[in-house]
Amino acid sequence: MKTIRFGLIGCGLMAREFASAAARWCHFTGDIPKPEVVGICSVVPKEMDWFKKNFDSIKYAVEDYKELLEKDDIDAIYCAVPHNLHEQFYIDIIKSGKALLAEKPFGIDKKANEAILKVYRETPGAFVRCSSEFPFYPAMQTMINWYKEGKFGKILEIHAGFNHCSDMDLNKPINWKRMVKFNGEYGCLGDLGIHTQHVPFRLGFRPKTVRAHFSNIVKERPDGKGGTAVCDTFDNCTLFCTTENADGDEIPMTLETKRMCPGSTNRWFFEIYGMDCSARFSSDDANAFYYTSSWGKEQSWNRIIIGYKPMLPTITGPIFEFGFTDAMQQQMGAFMLEYAGESVPFGLFTPEETELSHTLSTAALESFYNRTVVTLD
Ligand SMILES: NC(=O)c1ccc[n+]([C@@H]2O[C@H](COP(=O)([O-])OP(=O)(O)OC[C@H]3O[C@@H](n4cnc5c(N)ncnc54)[C@H](O)[C@@H]3O)[C@@H](O)[C@H]2O)c1
Repeated sequence: MKTIRFGLIGCGLMAREFASAAARWCHFTGDIPKPEVVGICSVVPKEMDWFKKNFDSIKYAVEDYKELLEKDDIDAIYCAVPHNLHEQFYIDIIKSGKALLAEKPFGIDKKANEAILKVYRETPGAFVRCSSEFPFYPAMQTMINWYKEGKFGKILEIHAGFNHCSDMDLNKPINWKRMVKFNGEYGCLGDLGIHTQHVPFRLGFRPKTVRAHFSNIVKERPDGKGGTAVCDTFDNCTLFCTTENADGDEIPMTLETKRMCPGSTNRWFFEIYGMDCSARFSSDDANAFYYTSSWGKEQSWNRIIIGYKPMLPTITGPIFEFGFTDAMQQQMGAFMLEYAGESVPFGLFTPEETELSHTLSTAALESFYNRTVVTLD
């Protein structure tokens, strides 16, 4: 089995998930190139302690990411840092010739996204993908396959979303994700939007028009030091888009990204409504999805439990339950295979798809500020 030597830039929430999933690569039964964490980088040295304690493979622990980019024995980088750093960091990583598993929103705004894409397109052999793990739940993969097999018939509507509720706790201290200068003007849409777009974009549902609504409900939060701080990001956003189904009919596509959605601890969902069949998946009920059967003029909703039958086979029995850490590992497996030049049934979000995502998010802001429907080119 081939080894891909990784440097992790940023040692926060997502870098820990990456490292943990890399540590149990024996979980896969297939011959998938194995990530090995060789280097780590954070501006907060204490954050690196957990990595150093658990990974004997680490040779470099640095505070300046450029040091990792100079190492010949690092092949690829997973970069999970605040959005205001994406542009410079991603550009430098791509220019260094290392493969890049990036994080959303892949640039704090459209200008930053364009600058990254320019370097990506000018760099021969660059391999870059953007993280979005929820489509890798087996139940969701089954729904995607049903769409490819034409089981839904003529599509009537798409509804997807990624909603949270922890911000409804007004005592929750502010962090960089709630500040425009670090998170970006899109607010919750920049943070959560790509998660809602991966499946529809990949299935060919390109947004044609958008009417957006953003809300900023909570305007200040505890600063974690006994005072308060301005919270200037949008909390909730709904995109009312039009798109086209495979028959060329104009249909609605609604994409929700909310930080303040009652009852949504970490609710990623996808719903597809068709003439022959409809289906819906929610991470709240991660091992199952619902689909309709037709009985004359009426339809019934049925629930089918898919269990543990992921896209990339593993040692786990098919009747067991699948969760977030498994989805993270599946997408990493897909990244390794795509990087090795192999095709996978469902791949990670591509740089080109991030371009469409930023076009949509920028149009959404324009729609909201001007109270108009914006047509995407
Ligand atoms: N795919 C997902 O499900 C998912 C979930 C959460 C966050 N994210 C994305 O991951 C990225 C990071 O989010 P997070 O939740 O891990 O944030 P985090 O705040 O937990 O971690 C950010 C890390 O970046 C480090 N950092 C800050 N400035 C740095 C610098 N100059 N050089 C090196 N390191 C620096 C911080 O010290 C910290 O370790 C963001 O793009 C975010 O949108 C993705």
